[in-house]
Amino acid sequence: MSGCPFGGNKPIHSFNSEMQENNDTPQDGTNKASKGGLIYGDYLQLDKIINAQELQSEKKGNKIHDEHLFIITHQAYELWFKQILWELDSVREIFLNGHVRDERNMLKVVSRINRIATIFKLLVDHFAVLETMTSLDFFDFRNYLVPASGFQSLQFRLLENKIGVPENLRVPYNRKHYRDNFRGKANEFLCRSELEPTLLQLVEQWLERTPGLEPDGYNFWGKLKINIERGLNEEFTDIQSKATFEEKEDMLLEFNRRKEVLMSMFDEKRHEHLLSKGERRISYKALQGALMIFFYREEPRFQVPFQLLNSLMDIDALVMKWRHNHVCTVQRMIGSKGGTGGSSGYLYLRSTLSDRYKVFVDLFNLANFLVPRHWIPKLTSSIHKFLYTAECCDSSYFSSDESD
Ligand code: HEM
Repeated sequence: MSGCPFGGNKPIHSFNSEMQENNDTPQDGTNKASKGGLIYGDYLQLDKIINAQELQSEKKGNKIHDEHLFIITHQAYELWFKQILWELDSVREIFLNGHVRDERNMLKVVSRINRIATIFKLLVDHFAVLETMTSLDFFDFRNYLVPASGFQSLQFRLLENKIGVPENLRVPYNRKHYRDNFRGKANEFLCRSELEPTLLQLVEQWLERTPGLEPDGYNFWGKLKINIERGLNEEFTDIQSKATFEEKEDMLLEFNRRKEVLMSMFDEKRHEHLLSKGERRISYKALQGALMIFFYREEPRFQVPFQLLNSLMDIDALVMKWRHNHVCTVQRMIGSKGGTGGSSGYLYLRSTLSDRYKVFVDLFNLANFLVPRHWIPKLTSSIHKFLYTAECCDSSYFSSDESD
């Protein structure tokens, strides 16, 4: 009898019965839980989480079905806020310890910042689940939760502070300091988070060290200024040679506007003034570093830094989207009534949808300073080599012995 060479003396099965046999293999395991040791529920401490939903309406003898959804939604948000803080602290730690000087650590930084952005994407969409509750359903139990309010979310405030929302730019809330809503340990945590270096400050310091900024080295800023002046002069001459007066007038108007914006870039005093008003947030030097990374993002050494700057903008944009979706949910649920925390509610929240809360606003505004590619200073061979081959560090993958 001819058989399958791997089948031993087993009879030849039909294709179908073999498939069935394969499908059954997952059933062959042993139930390890029965042998003792750590089990799923204990590992995740589910008894604490799953039993942490206490409906105020039920306690008052009037159980309202949707209050369960309301509590679960907020708890899920708070768990994700916790994960975001976990990632944020680790990234700040890497910067604080100077570990970014070893450029290989930048991948870790970018991955974690990206993870924060991905979580925020989820949180932005999460409101849709809560919106399956109608305003009338909410009305049925809203009074039971007074004076509790999202305004008292410690983790949300920590998150804002640690990313870099400045205290003086916060929208005033009932003429009270935002921290007045917190007592004891929570208040202490907030004070500390205001004193610690923010992600914004750490990124700013890192940008200031961008290779190529040194005036006595590649001197990116000096070269850029010369190129922009030259480019603008050429444009001006070009406009002057235009035929009709009307054509020339319109073009000159547009040209002067553009010139003013581009040349304002080199006005350090103006930068300091905007900084003092909170309209710019990073130092003059850091701004130069960011623009340099934007321009030369294709150079191998700038690729990861460029991704980081993009991800930081993603976070800002997503927090804004979170605020926007929250405001929409609030209006849908309570119209323009005051909040349970005592604010004007919708009107207060709408006022937080401004650039005051955009931490990395300077990165967005870099788009004002973009110039035609041929105006960007050409890299000299030494800086090009430097940006192309990251001078490395004590890599565990590196061997100085060619024979290895
Ligand atoms: C029915 C749904 C919701 C309503 C009606 C609502 C209402 C409000 C109102 C009126 C405020 C302003 C402060 C006050 O006076 O109370 C507020 C703030 C806040 N809420 Fe909600 N909220 C809802 C859902 C959520 C959810 C799901 C979260 C997730 C954690 C959340 C987090 C926050 C936070 C963090 C603030 C402070 C925002 C800031 O000051 O910038 N809210 N909410």
